[in-house]
Amino acid sequence: MPLVVAVDGPAGSGKSSVSKEVARQLGYGFLDTGAAYRALAWHAEASGIDTDDAASVVSSLPSFAYRIGTDPAGYAVHVGEVDVTTAIREPHISAIVSRVAKVPEVRTHLIELFRGIMADERHPGIVVEGRDITTVVAPDAPVRILLTASEEVRIARRSAELVDVPAEYTGEQLRRRDEADAKVVDFMTAADGVTTVDSTELDFDQTVEAVIGVIRAAQPEA
Ligand code: DC
Repeated sequence: MPLVVAVDGPAGSGKSSVSKEVARQLGYGFLDTGAAYRALAWHAEASGIDTDDAASVVSSLPSFAYRIGTDPAGYAVHVGEVDVTTAIREPHISAIVSRVAKVPEVRTHLIELFRGIMADERHPGIVVEGRDITTVVAPDAPVRILLTASEEVRIARRSAELVDVPAEYTGEQLRRRDEADAKVVDFMTAADGVTTVDSTELDFDQTVEAVIGVIRAAQPEA
């Protein structure tokens, strides 16, 4: 089993980009679990499924042919033969993803998938990021981190990524999504034994350094 670094946090906290860079610098694998929930939302939509209907979403699970690599350099997400790496980041997917993520059967199915990917990992470690990694997916991980930033900073960062979308829309959507997601798992407060890294006052490189600092404090050989 590789060394698991579990990272949770709210939308726009920089979890994905920071975790990917941490993995690259340490020679670890990287798993973005939110991408799986997004890919399932994409798959349900592409199959003409009403994402408000939990039973229909569950019925789409057997045909959900999800593939993701863990190499941080060659990161790509596929559903069947379709490369959905970019499509799953579209605002209309962000708007519906919480509906599929709240379905218990979906969570059970995807958590099994994540544990399989972690067990198969060939790098010496794997950085796994999401909302419930420190608490549900890998509660025994030797390194567990909650990556946060103030809401204002998270909205500003997300708006800078989505140049074509008005900032008010991005802010409203981020707030609404966090509110919906927080009803399913608590990712705003650090569970026992989880180290908080607050990136409000840090730039990208400093955040990466802070996360690597937490990993090395727990695992000096990393
Ligand atoms: O991290 P993200 O914004 O790409 O995540 C997309 C959605 O997936 C998010 O709205 C909540 C859900 N999610 C989850 O419920 N559990 C996870 N471990 C990761 C993401």
